[in-house]
Formats: sequence, structure tokens, C-alpha cells
Amino acid sequence: MKLTEHILSFIRIVYFRPMSLLMRDVSIQDSMELLEWRNEPSVRKFSHDPGPIKRETHDIWLKHRLVNLPHQPFWVFTKNFEKIGFIRFDLGQLKNEHKVSILLNPQFRGEGYGTLILTQSIEICLARIPYPSFCANIHKDNTASRKLFLKCGFFESETEGNFIRCKRITDSFVHSTN
Ligand SMILES: CC(C)(COP(=O)(O)OP(=O)(O)OC[C@H]1O[C@@H](n2cnc3c(N)ncnc32)[C@H](O)[C@@H]1OP(=O)(O)O)[C@@H](O)C(=O)NCCC(=O)NCCS
Repeated sequence: MKLTEHILSFIRIVYFRPMSLLMRDVSIQDSMELLEWRNEPSVRKFSHDPGPIKRETHDIWLKHRLVNLPHQPFWVFTKNFEKIGFIRFDLGQLKNEHKVSILLNPQFRGEGYGTLILTQSIEICLARIPYPSFCANIHKDNTASRKLFLKCGFFESETEGNFIRCKRITDSFVHSTN
């Protein structure tokens, strides 16, 4: 795809689809829905640990994760006061490498919201963080997720067991001194 086609498709997705979303930081009030969606069987089966997540474990994890806001983004997207999806960017061991996790409301999957949320979130991160890179670990059978990340500029770099590591490297410009 040519650069102009990429730009046009981004503009179409973000501005012309009748699905503009609001974005805010996740708060402890989002805990129940987040746990419910995390525990959905179709989500558990593609996770590293496929067992159900206990409420206490989830609450402790969420409280700790919220401490990292706003430095490590964790956002919820809503439409007409309804939650559409969560996305978070966890800083890894490599400098500026953000591990992306995205989770859609089961009622709104397959309608393009995942694409919208991932695209918009990456644009916001790129504007805020100098030279970020992004990665995601995706179960090899998670077709929707693999398609989503490939569509949003990621490439599949290596496989470990059932998981594929996807990466998105940000271009940086080297200025000539001439
Ligand atoms: C993965 C997920 C975020 C995708 O979001 P979504 O809103 O459902 O995806 P979109 O509608 O934007 O579609 C993205 C691509 O996946 C494809 N897709 C969507 N649902 C699909 C399905 N059930 N099976 C196969 N492909 C599917 C779409 O066709 C689209 O590809 P295309 O543009 O080439 O046609 C969402 O399904 C989800 O939350 N799944 C559970 C959690 C999860 O797996 N998270 C990812 C782990 S990092």
C-alpha cells in the first residue's frame, strides 16, 4: 500500500466512520467489567494462563497497574456512555518498548472498534513519547488479534510456543549536518 493510501485509510477510519469514541484513563470503577471481559472463555483460551482470574488477584493487579498512570497508558474507550474497549501499554525491560494489550467488550467485537482503538492509541503514544516501540504477544490461533496488529503496522517477529511476538518499530529521522 502506498503512503498516501495509508494516510487516507487512517483519516477514513478515525474521522469518517460514524463511530467516534471518547477516551479516558481507566479507574478502579472499571474493575468489574474489566474482570468480566478478561474472564470470558474466548479470552482465557488465548492467554498464557488459561485458568479463570480470581477477583482478589484481579483487584490487586489493577490497583498496582493504576499507579503507573499516566506514564504507562491504560485507557478505556466509550461511546454513548457504554464501554467499548480497554487498551494498555506496559513498559518492558527495553527502553521505550511498550507491550500492548487490547480487550474489547464482547458485544462490540468484529465491528472495527479494535482497529480504531489501536490506531488512535498508537497515534497518541507517538505524539507523547519520543521514539517508542511497541510489541504484543499473540496466541497463534487468535486470528482476529493477529489480523488487527498486522493491519496496524506490526510485523510478526518470532514464535515462542503457541505465542507470536509482534513488533512495531517507529521510524526515527537522522538529520544531516550539511
Ligand atoms: C482482538 C480484538 C481486540 C480485535 O478487535 P475487533 O474490534 O474485534 O477487531 P476489528 O473488528 O477491528 O477487526 C480487525 C481484523 O480482524 C478481523 N476479525 C475480527 N474478528 C474476527 C474473527 N472472529 N475471526 C477472524 N477475523 C476476525 C477483521 O476482519 C479485521 O481484519 P480485516 O480488516 O483484514 O478484515 C477483539 O476481538 C478482542 O478484544 N478479543 C479478545 C481479547 C484479545 O484477544 N486481545 C488481543 C490480545 S493482545
